Amino acid sequence: MLYIGVDLGTSAVKLLLMNGDGKIQKIVSREYTICFPHPGWSEQNPGDWFKETMEGLKELLSGQDRSKVAGISFGGQMHGLVILDEEDQVIRPAILWNDGRTYEECDYLNHMVGKEKLSEYTANISFTGFTAPKILWVRNKEPENFARIRKIMLPKDYIAYRLTGVHCTDVSDASGMLLFDVKNRCWSKEMLKICGIQEEQLAKIHESYEVVGTVLPEIAAELEIPVTVKVAAGAGDNAAAAVGTGTVGDGMCNLSLGTSGTVFISSKQFGVDRNNALHAFAHADGYYHLMGCMLSAASCNKWWMDEILGTKEYETEQNTIEELGENHVYFLPYLMGERSPHNDPNARGTFIGMTMDTTRADMTQAVLEGVAFALRDSFEVAKSLGIQAERTRICGGGARSLLWRQIIANVMNIKVDMIESEEGPALGAAMLAAVACGEYRNVKEAAEKLVKVVDTIEPDPKIAAKYEERYRRFQKIYPACKSLFEVIK
Ligand code: XUL
Repeated sequence: MLYIGVDLGTSAVKLLLMNGDGKIQKIVSREYTICFPHPGWSEQNPGDWFKETMEGLKELLSGQDRSKVAGISFGGQMHGLVILDEEDQVIRPAILWNDGRTYEECDYLNHMVGKEKLSEYTANISFTGFTAPKILWVRNKEPENFARIRKIMLPKDYIAYRLTGVHCTDVSDASGMLLFDVKNRCWSKEMLKICGIQEEQLAKIHESYEVVGTVLPEIAAELEIPVTVKVAAGAGDNAAAAVGTGTVGDGMCNLSLGTSGTVFISSKQFGVDRNNALHAFAHADGYYHLMGCMLSAASCNKWWMDEILGTKEYETEQNTIEELGENHVYFLPYLMGERSPHNDPNARGTFIGMTMDTTRADMTQAVLEGVAFALRDSFEVAKSLGIQAERTRICGGGARSLLWRQIIANVMNIKVDMIESEEGPALGAAMLAAVACGEYRNVKEAAEKLVKVVDTIEPDPKIAAKYEERYRRFQKIYPACKSLFEVIK
């Protein structure tokens, strides 16, 4: 049988076709635009997601035996607010995970409701990108839109709805809404009250590997697939990526180097970071995870290459970098503000330490290193909670760069395992579809059978020692700039 994984990302939707024994048959990708209507705001049109997903599905299936398609599932950009009216029409553009407009609402939630209460209700505190503060923002700033809300959805769930007609979500993605009682895997009545919404406005919750419905007859006809094709709930992109890299069960670590950068630690036990710097979310394998999320990771490199250097030759630029661990330039990668661990929407990207002999290569290196240092910031929080990870898996577009993987291994002083396919969320989504259709008994079995480590980068003690010293310096830069970011916002 064939399984389709749909990774509804921020810059593109990626679709992957996998057969029952995990062989990837085809991958296609289709881009859509992202709109930044104000500095720090970020929006997309859910209609564009659906259009490109349908076109992508057609491209994916062309030349394939469509009668063999058994299941579809998703990994989706998390936290985005999609609101539908009485006629199930989208009310306004979706407000995305990296949108920083809700600092007033976050302030209210974290300081008036209080972090302790939020953590008690949801296991998390409020960050500007989370969904609940966005609902409050719409209530405060667009009351006419708020009054029209009949359904509140997350990005991938909007696609599931258009494919099946069912309003559903999954535990991992719901965890990022700040409306979900993560420990007990249900909506938090207290949070619904705080946000002024009713449970009927939210979707029905499923485990990520559960079937939510079958494709609508008109969708089956358009895609020329059987009407029996099952749709599984899927997961937030980080939980889906973790499935795709085999980061399931207890104490495994995965780094994702996509538009965002995440440090993901799987756990069989529910646990909360006492300072809430890491998110405590439900995992797609039926258990839990802790996660640190930086808002701009591979996107910093893309910005530096495409917008500033004006080149697409990423590898050529990286080949000019001479020595790892040696660089007097530092870069704070906060181009969209920062989530973990600073929780500061006003933070900004910053180069510091340039001299007249600074080269283009030094600046390129500083960008790659700045992202690695910021990932280490979240990793340090995990270590402070007693989590001992000696190795990590890695996925996402940025992970394709061997140099970047080496920088990360040395900055974090950890072994970095590369999986056969770095298509984390799309592969994880296809695996969830396979589990939902009964091809595997559970997510763990699918991960054990399908995920293979093909290469490991070990840190070099000399380079890691140099990075240790540079990381100590990096750690001093943000606190020194913090009050300045307030002034220049
Ligand atoms: C996770 C997060 C991002 C998005 C990116 O909390 O906000 O990783 O899911 O797609």
